[in-house]
Amino acid sequence: MNGPLVVLVGPMGVGKSTVGLLLAERLGVGFRDTDEDIVAEQGRTVADIFVEDGESAFRALERQAVRTAVAGHTGVLALGGGAVLDAGTRELLAGHHVVYLSMDVEEAARRTGLNAARPLLAVNPRKQWRELMEARRHLYEEVARTVVATDDRTPEEVTQEVLNAL
Ligand code: S3P
Repeated sequence: MNGPLVVLVGPMGVGKSTVGLLLAERLGVGFRDTDEDIVAEQGRTVADIFVEDGESAFRALERQAVRTAVAGHTGVLALGGGAVLDAGTRELLAGHHVVYLSMDVEEAARRTGLNAARPLLAVNPRKQWRELMEARRHLYEEVARTVVATDDRTPEEVTQEVLNAL
């Protein structure tokens, strides 16, 4: 099937861009990120689109960006963390080698800079991460052909594991 060699999905902060760039370098292909495509096309930040137009408008723009990238890009493609929430976007991924970069809630809290040093800050973000992952985990698993756990691994190790799976 034509299209990207590999599509990376997973929650924000898991390292899709870092690993995506390393992977593209190792494979000698280009790297593309649908968030960046949307920002370039819209001339506004993702945060501004969310505030001004709402999440469902962003998801529709994201679906269009995924459609374009899946049709025209033959390298490594990274999607935004919430792209899998949209059924139309999930359909576009069928038949492609989708890799789910996963991390557990503790790792997510740590990587997003929230830790037990500030208990009030730490409690709610952990709960939010847990709820977010409960809502999304099965969707990441549904679209993925390969799952690579990133906890306790360097981006280079994660990249190698993705390469082994291709
Ligand atoms: C989102 C993740 C972001 C971006 C937007 C929404 C999400 O992408 O698409 O802020 O819903 O998880 P990254 O995963 O690249 O940060």
